[in-house]
Amino acid sequence: MDKIMKPDLRIYPDPEALNRAAAEEIAHLARVAVAERGLVTVALSGGRTPCRLYRLLAAEYRDGIPWPQMHLFWGDERYVPPTDPQSNYCLARESLLDRVPIPVEYVHPMPTHFPNAEDAARDYEATLRAYFAGSGPTFDLILLGMGAEGHTASLFPGSPALAEHEHWVVAAQAPAQPPLRLSLTLPAINRARNAVFLISGSEKVKAVQSILKNTGQAATRYPAALVHPQERLIWFVDRDALGSATNK
Ligand code: 6PG
Repeated sequence: MDKIMKPDLRIYPDPEALNRAAAEEIAHLARVAVAERGLVTVALSGGRTPCRLYRLLAAEYRDGIPWPQMHLFWGDERYVPPTDPQSNYCLARESLLDRVPIPVEYVHPMPTHFPNAEDAARDYEATLRAYFAGSGPTFDLILLGMGAEGHTASLFPGSPALAEHEHWVVAAQAPAQPPLRLSLTLPAINRARNAVFLISGSEKVKAVQSILKNTGQAATRYPAALVHPQERLIWFVDRDALGSATNK
């Protein structure tokens, strides 16, 4: 049975407060990484929640972030063209990338132009292996969300991708639209120094409470419970997602 890593739980009254606090923390982690290593490597998440965060990072928090030293990757992608509104890259480009001075050569979207998604996964893994030459994929920060059934990135409950321990990137099926995805695997995610979850919305209460209570089956039922970064695991959670039973 996998051990669940206890998150640094930060609770906010609403999504706006959650996103502002997350922006503050991300700016801080980025500055620390650049001060220590001269660059910061980030993997972005998708879904709806981070859109407001990305806009805040590109606006009110823009000046406190070392954009020219930031290298950007993605934790997962929907297997659609980069111009498709469902694309996580499209979301980030419109809400963040077009507004900040990250060198274009430092932005590494997951490719979705290969006829076969497995080939795309292998291609992105080659990109990661070249970038992290010699070491494993060590993101300074990986941003993650959690779905109502406890998925994270595009690792869904029961997915064979959860058992992948050799590859860093896989093609995966999602029980959601669009069904075909690319996703980092748990070994790649868990080599990150810091993992930051943004969890907002009442549909996530059951998964949030199960994982926080560290119930026996939480680790097997909810992929988000299997994220164990090397340094810090921080959950930014709003009241809706926390629900009432957990009196924090
Ligand atoms: C995706 C995301 C996914 C997301 C969760 C939460 O491609 O959809 O990477 O893992 O983070 O589904 O999504 P919301 O933030 O929209 O609730």
